[in-house]
Amino acid sequence: MTSSSTQHRPPIGIITTLRSSLPFLFFLLLLLYLISTSKLLIYPPHITTKITCQDSNLTTTNNHPKTGYDTELKHIAFCIAASSKLWKSRKEYIKLWWRPGETRGAVWLDNQVKIKKNETLPDIHISQDTSRFPYTNRQGHRSAIRISRIVSEALRLESDDVRWFVMGDDDTVFVVENVVRVLNKYNHNQFYYIGSSSESHFQNIFFSYSMAYGGGGFAISYPLVKELAKMQDRCIKRYPGLYGSDDRMQACMAELNVPLTKEPGFHQNDVYGNLLGLLSGHPVTPLVSLHHFDVIDPIFPGMKRVESIKHLLESTKYDSGSLIQQSICYDMKREWSVLVSWGFAIQIMRGILSPRELEIPSRTFINWYKVLDFTAYAFNTRPVTGHPCQKPFVFYINSTRYDELRGQIIGIYTVHRERHPRCRWKMESPEKIHTVVVLKQEDPDRWLRAPRKDCCRVLPSRKEGIMYLWVGHCGENEVIEV
Ligand SMILES: *[C@@H]1O[C@H](CO)[C@@H](O)[C@H](O)[C@H]1NC(C)=O
Ligand SMILES: *[C@@H]1O[C@H](CO)[C@@H](O)[C@H](O)[C@H]1NC(C)=O
Ligand SMILES: *[C@@H]1O[C@H](CO)[C@@H](O)[C@H](O)[C@H]1NC(C)=O
Repeated sequence: MTSSSTQHRPPIGIITTLRSSLPFLFFLLLLLYLISTSKLLIYPPHITTKITCQDSNLTTTNNHPKTGYDTELKHIAFCIAASSKLWKSRKEYIKLWWRPGETRGAVWLDNQVKIKKNETLPDIHISQDTSRFPYTNRQGHRSAIRISRIVSEALRLESDDVRWFVMGDDDTVFVVENVVRVLNKYNHNQFYYIGSSSESHFQNIFFSYSMAYGGGGFAISYPLVKELAKMQDRCIKRYPGLYGSDDRMQACMAELNVPLTKEPGFHQNDVYGNLLGLLSGHPVTPLVSLHHFDVIDPIFPGMKRVESIKHLLESTKYDSGSLIQQSICYDMKREWSVLVSWGFAIQIMRGILSPRELEIPSRTFINWYKVLDFTAYAFNTRPVTGHPCQKPFVFYINSTRYDELRGQIIGIYTVHRERHPRCRWKMESPEKIHTVVVLKQEDPDRWLRAPRKDCCRVLPSRKEGIMYLWVGHCGENEVIEV
């Protein structure tokens, strides 16, 4: 051992010092459990937080070089897998994100459906009948075989300047600008298979952590689709026992030696219940897609499903790249923690929760197997509230508009009234707040820089019941010190 390494300070923390004495740790956990259940914690945690916040110098953020491959929406062909049986309801989801004249691609159906002339939908194609040729094995869902082959069929239709094929289901909703942002990072002349896994750890164990889940959508670069099309019919014959179209796709990708490139903005949404916790704790990456709307609660309580997605997408009008991005700040005077999910929801909690706790998705949702088990997810989660006093007050986006004069976006979030448990903490209650106003500058290039959350500052309030926040580039030396 060199002298310098012996001078290293040991890591500080209760866990590291106790690691060698497991029985004591067990005792400690038991004690913590007893404390947490016996309502001994009637006062908020001792507050040592101060926010260091110096003059921001925004010019530093403009010095970044442009990166990317100049991929635009016109270079992306969407392939939507749909079934005639569910068409009537599912087409409403497609209409939410499809832009006639801008998006290209088609819907692939198993049977003819009735189409009204004035509906803003993609072209409709009927998939090739595979019952005789090329897939004759009696095992395997016909629909899975059909959907798996869509991308090869689409290749024969699209050729002019297509760089990427993006697969999705009829109940997948894409944030189109963010599909472009994510794909622009990758060289479309090479072999790429881009998507994300399931939220459910068990689903990923049963299927695969290396597979792009079809409902969340995934992208394949043009040259890779060309290579895939040459072998796909032979390939799927070798896997009659697989379940869906997406694991068949992954099986062929494995034969082509192409791994999954993970982009966690694609969401299969293998959960039930309320997405608030999941979206508010989104990884620092653009929101690309959402799925399973028939299964989850409407994103905004009290709205119909389609209406609620439409409302969420309205926030993409001024700053699509920042949709649902997380910012954390504290109202030090009133001792509140504030969690912003931009363009979607604000949560205010009594007491100061550290950023490392707050940033974790809270379990407002239930896992795919409907068991109350926090090990069921493929990511960390936290309970919605550790103490009854800390049940979040939730404010949902009402509207956004652009203030030309000051060059900033103004978001209005209104309170979602719900019952809160009695709280004896001697501090101001957030229930007095009915509206949160968030000011933010547009930031279309945020994903060309290294990923970083926006800073959030509590502004002086001008009106009773209204809280004003500012969200944007962190200033120099701006940190949240807890
Ligand atoms: C911002 O940074 C630039 C370059 O370092 C400097 O010239 C300028 O004076 C700074 N502006 C402020 C407001 O600090
Ligand atoms: C399409 O036409 C039908 C009847 O002709 C009408 O009820 C419907 O509102 C129209 N939809 C749109 C989007 O224009
Ligand atoms: C926005 O607020 C106004 C006024 O309170 C209300 O009438 C309207 O329904 C709200 N809209 C949404 C989408 O919440």
